[in-house]
Amino acid sequence: MQQKAGHLLQTGNTIALVPTMGYLHEGHLALMREGRKHGDALVVSIFVNPTQFDPGEDLESYPRDMDRDAHLAESVGVDIIFAPEAEAMYGQTYQTHVDLEMLPRFLCGLSRPGHFRGVATVVTMLFNIVKPHVAVFGEKDYQQLVIIRRMVDDLNFEIRIIGVPIVREADGLALSSRNTYLSKDERRSALSLSHSLQQAQKSVAHGMKDARQVIKGALEHIRSYPYTKIDYVAVCDTKTLQDVDRIDGPSLMAMAVWVGKTRLIDNAILKP
Ligand code: PAJ
Repeated sequence: MQQKAGHLLQTGNTIALVPTMGYLHEGHLALMREGRKHGDALVVSIFVNPTQFDPGEDLESYPRDMDRDAHLAESVGVDIIFAPEAEAMYGQTYQTHVDLEMLPRFLCGLSRPGHFRGVATVVTMLFNIVKPHVAVFGEKDYQQLVIIRRMVDDLNFEIRIIGVPIVREADGLALSSRNTYLSKDERRSALSLSHSLQQAQKSVAHGMKDARQVIKGALEHIRSYPYTKIDYVAVCDTKTLQDVDRIDGPSLMAMAVWVGKTRLIDNAILKP
């Protein structure tokens, strides 16, 4: 991959990168279609990165299907799939990590302590290997996107980061590779996330400004569905991710909810 990237750059091409963990769905494909517009060569990485899974998480069971992924990637014009083995990325002697100070302390970082260190580290490695001019990430993982933007700015990567809005099923469920874990009944309860977000958006649009009240409404709504267990529901600043008390400008509502044994995340911007 490093040789290919070097050759592409030497021959005057621009490179767009879409990092993924595979088991591709329409959300990933939307990122690729966006990436296609921004580079002569479009590279997709498929790597289930072990360092961003905390102990006890679903690293082993994470769904994988390289043949299907290759066909889907090809159908949207991907030029190169970079799918390294874990051993090639992290040898026995590996010991360097990229860690942010503040942004990982909020939202998902609270229940996944090593997660964003693993993400920032692997994305840095991918940037150095693929050498993209542009990299595309989804707003589905809003905190991840904010962290990558901060890291790129802090470490002076000359890479333009593009964010793509969340792609949803017709009924509102945000697409995720982990949706495949859901049983039929759990799939119905998974709608509690998008429904409570929509409800919050309406309340705030109609004048509700007290974040605590908005969160309370969402908690009650989610709890009314079977199989749900709330990890967190937060309303926070879109850049610092710090909790806000009053919703006076566009604010991020983010949540993580267990539906059975599956942890789902979703978010939306609340606008007064
Ligand atoms: P993964 O979960 O495979 O997601 C890859 C990219 O697809 C991320 O930028 C994510 O935000 C985006 N994405 C996933 N579902 C989406 C949806 N419904 N709508 C829009 N975008 C969506 O995120 C990761 O992998 C990893 O942490 C990675 C960045 C690859 C580092 O290992």
